[in-house]
Amino acid sequence: MTTLVAKKKTPKKGTAAMKKALKKSAHKRRDGAPKSAKSKLYASLVVQLLSLLKGEHDFIANAANFSALLFNSLPNVNWAGFYFLHGEELVLGPFQGNPACVRIPMGQGVCGMAAQQCETIIVPNVHEFPGHIACDVASNSEIVVPLFDGERLLGVLDLDSTLIGRFDDQDAEGLNELATVFVAHEEGLGL
Ligand code: SME
Repeated sequence: MTTLVAKKKTPKKGTAAMKKALKKSAHKRRDGAPKSAKSKLYASLVVQLLSLLKGEHDFIANAANFSALLFNSLPNVNWAGFYFLHGEELVLGPFQGNPACVRIPMGQGVCGMAAQQCETIIVPNVHEFPGHIACDVASNSEIVVPLFDGERLLGVLDLDSTLIGRFDDQDAEGLNELATVFVAHEEGLGL
């Protein structure tokens, strides 16, 4: 079974819409509503990511630190990293985990499908996903979050787990928020 999670496109950097999105994100962290352990973890990751990005605008360095933060903070994740859009294909970016396939054509695998459909895709069991590209034979579930600068697709953030059904809607929400913070921080990416 595959779950597609509709994703609002990330507002363009520096726009009123982006400022509103970041304000809403900050508000969610302060509103005092009861939060699950998972949403608390993601809230703490937003704070840690902002701290890692602060004052640094080297895109590769920031993407590398972002992937390391996810890999080392989220339980039961055996791969976390990026594929960036170059022409009509996704090319491997900074990541943590086993060496992975370098190029993924649009529409292929979970990454290519998330990029083509501009949707977050949760795959509870990768062995049931037609066309799944197995980079690490230990992976059993996966989530892929597309990255946007406004309407422009930059690439995808990909996480794998050895557990079946590791990722849920809270992961999709948390990872989308982190991706928004990451993209909002970067300026002049040149991708
Ligand atoms: N499983 C992905 C390929 C990338 S690796 O998981 C790192 C896919 O099907 O697109």
